[in-house]
Amino acid sequence: MAEPIILCENLVKIYKIQDVEVLALQGLELTVQRGELMGIVGASGSGKSTLMNVLGGLVRPSAGTALVDGHDLLKLSDAQINRYRREKVGFVWQQGARNLIPYLNALENVEMPMTLAGVHGRRTRQYAHELLEMVQLSHRRHHKLGQMSGGEQQRVAIAVALANNPKILLADEPTGELDSTTALTIYEAFQTLNRELGLTILIVSHDPTIARHVQRVMQIRDGKAASETVRRRRRPETAAETASDHHDDHFEELVVLDSVGRLQLPKQYREALNLHGRARMELVDDHLVIRSVPPEDLHQLPPELLHQAEAAEEKGDGRVQQWLHKIRRKKVIE
Ligand SMILES: Nc1ncnc2c1ncn2[C@@H]1O[C@H](COP(=O)(O)OP(=O)(O)OP(=O)(O)O)[C@@H](O)[C@H]1O
Ligand SMILES: [Mg+2]
Repeated sequence: MAEPIILCENLVKIYKIQDVEVLALQGLELTVQRGELMGIVGASGSGKSTLMNVLGGLVRPSAGTALVDGHDLLKLSDAQINRYRREKVGFVWQQGARNLIPYLNALENVEMPMTLAGVHGRRTRQYAHELLEMVQLSHRRHHKLGQMSGGEQQRVAIAVALANNPKILLADEPTGELDSTTALTIYEAFQTLNRELGLTILIVSHDPTIARHVQRVMQIRDGKAASETVRRRRRPETAAETASDHHDDHFEELVVLDSVGRLQLPKQYREALNLHGRARMELVDDHLVIRSVPPEDLHQLPPELLHQAEAAEEKGDGRVQQWLHKIRRKKVIE
């Protein structure tokens, strides 16, 4: 397989504020192939923006591996990372207008980063036209910011982010402030750019329908990749379906294993089976069974838990008294 454009292994980011440390990425693993269009979802605070900022060279990772298009983001000097940020990545933010200059029109806004990079002349204008065309905004090219809708402004921001020909486009909640119909125009713009320029695009989103608009979706939980949703396309079964180009996609959520085999059990499963601390795992034919450890086996739990149980017993917790009674009886019989 070709070399991935993004490779993160055991990626860690710790923010320090005075004496408090926040573990924003806790051993995240991510491989992205060149030309992928992928979504990243996860609860608030799970580390999505931190990942975007690390990949964009805005935030330095604390440990692990982050290789992007041959650059080792843990090793680049300050000057190298500034250059990386200017040349390799484009950013789109929730407020599209953040990247735009209000008194310039759409075309001038797209030309601006090229001018700043020292590229002038007719080719600049030509490329700005092409980019506005790809985001379907040719007809608005002479409009200033205040003369465009939120969705149009966001599409200008996408064209601006691409003006310097980056390899990767990073979008952090680009549809966060848009209604669902307008959001569709943004997804269409990403799909066109992905298809026509072969651009690698990562989109952070809270939109539950994101899986329909991208090739795969990674879910981050507590700073780690937890699961991935992939699209399965059912083959057309009848001639009529083939003729009508009928697709019946369905989406399957798969759990992610890291390079040493760790995986996360979703909270609802842990709660349903009362799993904490330890669990039993058994290989049965071609699958694994994970079970909770029954209370009688409490003596198999770590000593701290046993101490906790003994403390609860002293406080008169009837259920714990029963468990401990059973354990002691079992031990005596053994
Ligand atoms: N600059 C910072 N300094 C300190 N802590 C930070 C900083 N940025 C983020 N954090 C913390 O890191 C964790 C991950 O934050 P992050 O912004 O990556 O989450 P997120 O998934 O983007 O959330 P949201 O969906 O709300 O945007 C959170 O606990 C957050 O408080
Ligand atoms: Mg965020």
